[in-house]
Amino acid sequence: MKAIVITKKGGPEVLKIKEVEQPIPVRNQVLIRVIAAGVNRSDVLSRSSKSYGEEVQDEVPGLEVSGEIEALGPDVKRWKKGDKVCALVAGGGYAAFKAVDERLCLPVPEGFSFEEAAALPETVFTVWYNIFRTSGFKAGENFLVHGGTSGIGVTAIQMVVAMGGNAYATAGTAEKCRVCVELGAILAINYKEEDFVKLLKPVGIDVILDMTGGDNTLKNLEILNTDGRLVYINAMNGARSEIDIVQVMSKRLQITGSMLKPRDNDFKAGLAEDIERIIWPLVTNGKIKPVIYRVFPLADAADAHRLMEGSSHIGKIILKIEDGI
Ligand SMILES: NC(=O)c1ccc[n+]([C@@H]2O[C@H](COP(=O)([O-])OP(=O)(O)OC[C@H]3O[C@@H](n4cnc5c(N)ncnc54)[C@H](OP(=O)(O)O)[C@@H]3O)[C@@H](O)[C@H]2O)c1
Repeated sequence: MKAIVITKKGGPEVLKIKEVEQPIPVRNQVLIRVIAAGVNRSDVLSRSSKSYGEEVQDEVPGLEVSGEIEALGPDVKRWKKGDKVCALVAGGGYAAFKAVDERLCLPVPEGFSFEEAAALPETVFTVWYNIFRTSGFKAGENFLVHGGTSGIGVTAIQMVVAMGGNAYATAGTAEKCRVCVELGAILAINYKEEDFVKLLKPVGIDVILDMTGGDNTLKNLEILNTDGRLVYINAMNGARSEIDIVQVMSKRLQITGSMLKPRDNDFKAGLAEDIERIIWPLVTNGKIKPVIYRVFPLADAADAHRLMEGSSHIGKIILKIEDGI
């Protein structure tokens, strides 16, 4: 089958389309004929950064796919050939076929295109895991996401609002801030022009989802309410920060973080169950919508990565796999 592979660590040009072996679904796996695949920042980091794994050769990136079930491995209970699904995968999504644990598939919501369905799994699972499961976010609480128009940000704002929370965001341009508000944020702050601490300290934030780290760490601790939770999913602006432990103690703050990709399938299947029960109805009724910035043919994955690295996008970048690629 055709797939995009990371031929070695480097710039977008190391992504090449190649003929690779088609996976065979084993016990409890379905084989998906992939029609669309989401692009995530993690794919860019896997391609370019040694801290995301040592030198690789011909690794297929991609953490989320949508498509039709082509074949079933032994003991598959839920799905049948031809079912339309989207799925969370731990690599291998930029390919014509992907074998995946049947528990990590969700039905393509009624009326959704495959591109829209592929825009959901990675961000919905990550947001559910970190904000709702780990931090125990509750209706009525105040929530802040940095990178409000990242793929993660657009999902986080909508999920929090749909679950009865008050969303705030930071983003790097006025247009990005406008979109955050359109998605339901009460206030979105262009951090390049305004001080989010000044604006959000009087509000008081209960849960922060942070992918930036760096200089924002102390600022985050300052705006958190008593019993506030700070959840890291990356540290794009620096992994090391000095904190005031007394501030953490006096406000009883919780600082935590996680990585979804290395978690095992049993753990992810637990997330999938909650998501299908609680979040999927909100997706189906339009309260949570995929936000797609641009769709590229699979063969142009390098251009999709260039766009993501430029950070001008708002929402998700998707790869479309046509017949014969
Ligand atoms: N731990 C996990 O399990 C997990 C799972 C999924 C995603 N993530 C992380 O969540 C983040 C968002 O992922 P995504 O796929 O949604 O990314 P994305 O769409 O590419 O968005 C990233 C956004 O972050 C902002 N940003 C702030 N500092 C940046 C920097 N130093 N370099 C580049 N961008 C910077 C940019 O927006 P502005 O212009 O507004 O600054 C950019 O648009 C990534 O860091 C990713 O690694 C982690």
